[in-house]
Amino acid sequence: MRCTIIKEALQQPNQDGKINCLKTKSRPIKAHHSADVQGSNWAKIEARPLTSAMENWRMAAALNAVEGAINERVLNHVAWGLSLDLSAIVSLCRSLAAGYPMEWNSSLYMKFEKERTRAARDLLAQVPDLAPGSIFDLGCGPGNGTELLAAKFPGARIFGLDISENMLAVARERVPSARFGKEDIAGWRPAEKTDLIFANASLQFVPSHDELMVRLLSYLREGGCLAVQMPNNIQELSHALMRMVAADGPWADRLVPIAKSRAVIGGLDFYYQLLVPHCSRLDLWQTAYVHPLDGPDDIVDWFAGSALRPFLDALSPCERESFLTRYRAELAAAYPVQTNGKVLLRYPRLFFVAQR
Ligand SMILES: C[S@@+](CC[C@H](N)C(=O)[O-])C[C@H]1O[C@@H](n2cnc3c(N)ncnc32)[C@H](O)[C@@H]1O
Repeated sequence: MRCTIIKEALQQPNQDGKINCLKTKSRPIKAHHSADVQGSNWAKIEARPLTSAMENWRMAAALNAVEGAINERVLNHVAWGLSLDLSAIVSLCRSLAAGYPMEWNSSLYMKFEKERTRAARDLLAQVPDLAPGSIFDLGCGPGNGTELLAAKFPGARIFGLDISENMLAVARERVPSARFGKEDIAGWRPAEKTDLIFANASLQFVPSHDELMVRLLSYLREGGCLAVQMPNNIQELSHALMRMVAADGPWADRLVPIAKSRAVIGGLDFYYQLLVPHCSRLDLWQTAYVHPLDGPDDIVDWFAGSALRPFLDALSPCERESFLTRYRAELAAAYPVQTNGKVLLRYPRLFFVAQR
């Protein structure tokens, strides 16, 4: 059985401490020892020694849980990962067995990487040629924006910060020239002033992000830039339906407070008033992207990698399943199918580049 193979693989790392896993979208994952590795179709998975009986138990539970549920979808998720440490695989297996990931999941996040990175690219395009000495990518995720920064500013020292180990593991592999660290943006402060602070789709997660932005500007050298993009989709159908399902079910007492606690970002006027006293130049704009997706399942997948997470985290596996079934049905009713079978996900985003 496929997951028995995975299980054996996880329990028997190679002598070099790695596990090899066949990277394929359509075929079962097989594990082999290093000697069997051939060609570039193989991804190495770091194996960390299990630290305690509890870890052992957790892994066994995760793998047993996934045994019944393993299917092409699980394999796809695993196959997209370039390199995962053992805890990431355990967490992935557990959450996929239950329906959807419970913590930031780089593989699911990267399913729509092209679309997500387009915003980072559009933001970076408005950053002036600074010849920066140092750059910080706050909430760097899987390093997709960090990679763009490294390409645009090859001479700069680039640091990526994130609170998710899962994301950082992918980012490290992806941009070896940059340095990455686990850090909460809320309390971060650079050791010395910097030239560029880049935050694509991350500041909206930080409480009091308006105060944070003003603080971040004070960490810049004269002429340095704070470049920010935040999704502005709380009023979109996708999110309204999420809240509606959250408020209408046996889970309402748990999910309504979560829905209410969601950060609502300000309008263009708000950020203009906030930032303009602290900078010499401010470029502020908003764009509504339109993403043709394959159907409601794709919309669910998109937000399972971001906005759905706090809701799903609060539910049992069984509740999660029924929450998603209802959410999917609402999406199917609300998003008309185009003649080519696609549904159009409208996705407004707010951007600014503030220069000191
Ligand atoms: C939507 S993703 C954006 C990833 C990437 N910047 C991009 O352009 O696609 C948000 C990222 O911010 C990180 N994040 C959220 N809150 C954070 C915090 N308080 N401190 C550091 N990172 C945070 C998450 O772990 C996640 O990787």
